[in-house]
Amino acid sequence: MTVQIDHALEEIRRFRPSPEFAAQSVADPALYEAARADRLAFWADQARELVQWEKPFTRTLDWTNPPFAKWFDDGELNVAVNCLDRHVEAGLGDRVAIHWEGEPGDSRDITYAQLTDEVKRAANVLESLGIGSGDRVAIYLPMIPEAVVSMLAVARIGAIHSVVFGGFSSDSLASRIDDAEASLVITADGGFRKGRVFPLKPVVDEALAKTEGGTVRNVLVVRRGENEIEWTEGRDLWWHETVTDASNEHVPSAFPAEHPLFILYTSGTTGKPKGILHTSGGYLVQTSFTHKYVFDLHPETDVFWCTADVGWVTGHSYVVYGPLANGATQVLYEGTPDTPHPGRWWEIVEKYKVSILYTAPTAIRSFMKLGRQIPQQFNLRSLRVLGSVGEPINPEAWIWYREVIGGGSIPVVDTWWQTETGAIMISPLPGVMDLTPGSAQAPIPGVEVDILTDEGEPVDGENGGFLVITEPWPAMLRGIWGDPERFKQTYWEKYGEKYFAGDGARRDEDGDIWLLGRVDDVMNVSGHRLSTTEIESSLVAHPWTAEAAVVGASDETTGQAVVAFVILKASQVSHITDPNDASEELRKHVAVQIGAIARPRQVFIVNELPKTRSGKIMRRLLRDLAEGRQVGDTTTLADTSIMEVISAQVR
Ligand code: WTA
Repeated sequence: MTVQIDHALEEIRRFRPSPEFAAQSVADPALYEAARADRLAFWADQARELVQWEKPFTRTLDWTNPPFAKWFDDGELNVAVNCLDRHVEAGLGDRVAIHWEGEPGDSRDITYAQLTDEVKRAANVLESLGIGSGDRVAIYLPMIPEAVVSMLAVARIGAIHSVVFGGFSSDSLASRIDDAEASLVITADGGFRKGRVFPLKPVVDEALAKTEGGTVRNVLVVRRGENEIEWTEGRDLWWHETVTDASNEHVPSAFPAEHPLFILYTSGTTGKPKGILHTSGGYLVQTSFTHKYVFDLHPETDVFWCTADVGWVTGHSYVVYGPLANGATQVLYEGTPDTPHPGRWWEIVEKYKVSILYTAPTAIRSFMKLGRQIPQQFNLRSLRVLGSVGEPINPEAWIWYREVIGGGSIPVVDTWWQTETGAIMISPLPGVMDLTPGSAQAPIPGVEVDILTDEGEPVDGENGGFLVITEPWPAMLRGIWGDPERFKQTYWEKYGEKYFAGDGARRDEDGDIWLLGRVDDVMNVSGHRLSTTEIESSLVAHPWTAEAAVVGASDETTGQAVVAFVILKASQVSHITDPNDASEELRKHVAVQIGAIARPRQVFIVNELPKTRSGKIMRRLLRDLAEGRQVGDTTTLADTSIMEVISAQVR
């Protein structure tokens, strides 16, 4: 009996690509063989094939000063030219680059020729504002074509963009502007979300009032929401009065492969976000390589849709740089999945005949909750590859995605990577491998990973351990903006020249890699990284708070959810009649301080926090409480009875 069940499980556990899919697949096993035979020669070949170099490189990798890598460093290129001009020159100017869909239902199709023109115009405006090579430009925009245009215009002139997700607060924006010393902010009056206009320019005004550096000279404003905004003469400029009228002649310069391309802030284990720095050549090589092979891209016929916002790394690598470098046609959607109706995404898939869809498990799980009758109202037969990113995808969600969205026969690729890695690192290549639901399976060709014990020994058998990347890779981060020490400490201190990813992982008996989530104080809520410490600092900044502890509790839809435990100041307790009011106030406070994505699901007002004798908060016990579990071992607590007191207050 047992044998039979095992056998049945074995059968559904792996999915073989269909013979038709395998026959047309762009990837083949030779990629793995070539990379295994000579990793650096493999990447050099990819770099020559996928990227147009103004000056060819002769050196592939310089790793003489770890952890500071240089890839293709004597080569020169222009990243924007690779994403635009070269396709137009190759006769593809009329191909649609972007099918843009606004939330209210307005839409625009933008060809490669039009996108190239618009980027040249924007580049001219940036230069007329005194922005040049190496200058930082903050971008705070909704998901409108101008977001892509802005990023590429910045790249075209060798400046460095720092895109800040439109859901972040003025405080978060201000600290990012100050840290990068940005001289220009590109924003919009507002954008559409959940059927309403959310203001952006007013947040920029607030942020600029808070910045300490005073580095911003101009604010370039796209008109989108038509909401009322204030205007600072001399500083603020309308996009439609500057870019639209600018010349579409712009001669690009070539920049060294290691020229910085962008800074993207991400949460770390401290309260201060890290400005992850990426450079040009290696980043473009690996984003275009992975976009082509992981998604089996056929640029002449495919319509690609990555649902990520450009404010996150997924939007950088798989909305902007990878797809455009590959000359792909893609969908860009401004709004939320359920506006104005819960079938909106599937309506878009049907409308544009999307063939490759790349999204996050949290979205898939919320669609599962709504039920299959919603996607089933639409024609999804154009889909042929499905991708997942951002957090571990549970096998149930993987299977549902394949069955209900993919019609039961198309590949699902689970892709593991990070802001720091710049591009996909662990993922099956569809058409080449059998697929295992729930597992990211294997490093892509040219990437080497391992799973180590705390002491740095490879783990044996199926035991879990810490994921490391053992060899430098082209799209790797080059540092943390302005903080080389933190870069070394965070990623390279634990295992020397092996990159410490901060994720747990294990290998199953087939050698497939399963990601097990973060091993540090970083939470993953709806595929977004949030720092426990950052939210705790925000909570204690509120005048009512004496102490706060935050944990990431598992959540059916969002993967993890922020749950906070707060002790109020004694001086406040008497004024607050209902603890629910305090919880609500503190939840709002975090949303205002950091952004709505960081708003705790719950704030429990308690009298005590569980601490060890040395005063360290035992978050593990709070997580047990937040997840409604039996509280674990309390023997190391200074006061072992404390958990009972807290449990009673939480109920
Ligand atoms: C998690 C997003 C499991 C992981 C591209 C990582 C994943 C963090 C997966 C990076 C996956 C991302 N399976 N976990 N397929 N993809 N993660 O920087 O914990 O926003 O360290 O980059 O997300 O998040 P980031």
